[in-house]
Amino acid sequence: MKSHVRSRWQGAILVCRKCSKKLKGGFGYDGKQPIAKVLRKALDGGKGRKARMGIVEVGCLDICPKGAVTLIDTAHPDEWLVVKAGTTVDDLTKRLGR
Ligand code: FES
Repeated sequence: MKSHVRSRWQGAILVCRKCSKKLKGGFGYDGKQPIAKVLRKALDGGKGRKARMGIVEVGCLDICPKGAVTLIDTAHPDEWLVVKAGTTVDDLTKRLGR
């Protein structure tokens, strides 16, 4: 068994799955896409190691905002983001600095 596996990830964004589920979408051009899906498309991201950016859904992060999703950019683990439903992809990527 290998002790290391290479990945193309240049970073990772953790997305609260429970926040997303409560919104039933909330993002994308029609406001019906989950934020993880929008981020995967915008940042060439995914769950697999061949993606450029890891976009990983995780359990509740104990922030539980209303009408928003909690995200953690692992490049800035000391500053969690609360992203309101309806935030555009451009605003989101700008806020993430990516
Ligand atoms: S439901 Fe998302 S932080 Fe708790």
